[in-house]
Amino acid sequence: MRTLGFVTLAFQVQGAPDSGTGGVDFIKLVADSSPLAKSVLLILLLFSAVSWGIILLKTLQYRRASRDSGTFLQVFRKSTKFQESPAAGRGPEQPLEEHMAFTLDKFRLDGKVAIVTGAGGRPNSIGEAYSLGLAAAGARVVCADLVKEGAEACADRVKAAGGTAIGLQVDISSEVSVNAMAQAAKEAFGGVDILVNNAALMVEMRSNPELGGTTQTVSLKGWQTWLDVNLTGAMLCARACIPQMLERGGGRIVNQVSAGAYPAQGIYGITKIALVGLTTTLAREVGKQNITVNAIAPGMTGSSAGSSLTPEGSPFRTYADTSAAGNPAGQPDDLVGPLLLLVSPAGQWMTGQVLHVDGGLIITN
Ligand SMILES: NC(=O)c1ccc[n+]([C@@H]2O[C@H](COP(=O)([O-])OP(=O)(O)OC[C@H]3O[C@@H](n4cnc5c(N)ncnc54)[C@H](O)[C@@H]3O)[C@@H](O)[C@H]2O)c1
Repeated sequence: MRTLGFVTLAFQVQGAPDSGTGGVDFIKLVADSSPLAKSVLLILLLFSAVSWGIILLKTLQYRRASRDSGTFLQVFRKSTKFQESPAAGRGPEQPLEEHMAFTLDKFRLDGKVAIVTGAGGRPNSIGEAYSLGLAAAGARVVCADLVKEGAEACADRVKAAGGTAIGLQVDISSEVSVNAMAQAAKEAFGGVDILVNNAALMVEMRSNPELGGTTQTVSLKGWQTWLDVNLTGAMLCARACIPQMLERGGGRIVNQVSAGAYPAQGIYGITKIALVGLTTTLAREVGKQNITVNAIAPGMTGSSAGSSLTPEGSPFRTYADTSAAGNPAGQPDDLVGPLLLLVSPAGQWMTGQVLHVDGGLIITN
């Protein structure tokens, strides 16, 4: 277009190349020419005028954009009206949240209802930290545990902190008991959005002889009890809550596994790696219904149960202190942030994943 413009201009000023005359002779030549030749010339002149108009407009746009932004790419985008995303091309003067779809509100759980199993049976438990964290983010919480008084004490602590909670007794290895828990949650708060499968047998490997021993020595009843609570219990809770999640348009399930599953350490470790299998399988089953299923694998956590298993100076504690990439000794509160990520809109694109929260313990195994 620009070339044509130049040719036409040259034609106008210098005259026709083969006439051998100047511009005045050229005008005379045009006046004497046929109507067809005049029309062709008029079209060429119009075309030339439009071309030069566009060149002039673009030059002015470029100069204005250069003053505003500076980089060639920005000038190009503005002058061609090209944008890669809604945020592209925004100036630095706009508030930060206008540059992206993410805001810190995505960690909020206002209006959501959460069940936490294994909440409060023992002092300083992970279930209690989870209940407090979920309530702090705005969720109403059902604190459920085999130990009724512990569950109620956990709910009282949530309420004392300004949250909303109820305490319930549940045996997660009993389908009847689990269904009653889900029903009670519905009656109290209208339905369940979030399930945290945190209850498990762990410290009992020391206190209950039936649960001690190796795969070679454990009784079949003991083996079955491990699986009933740590694996089947999580499956029953998920089955009881998923229908309510579907009624509410989706939900979140988080299974509490363990660093002791990588590789499986003892029968406890076997149940926890099996729970990873339940996590990925369930994630595939319900993913298209807007339910995410993930897991958290804590390392040595200083709950009263955890501390009693790995006290200062114990062989495993010494091994972990020297081999972990970072600090292998965490507290229940250190797990709350990862949980909130998995159950809030901030983590809505994650499913079937295991978050290893262990100070870099298992990466050195
Ligand atoms: N503390 C750690 O170092 C550590 C490390 C990795 C994983 N975990 C996991 O974190 C979770 C919580 O651990 P914690 O340290 O707070 O221990 P914890 O013993 O305080 O919590 C487990 C809770 O589960 C409850 N429970 C047991 N059987 C139940 C049943 N049949 N029905 C309902 N509730 C039942 C217990 O009463 C207890 O309150 C467990 O899943 C544990 O395996 C803990």
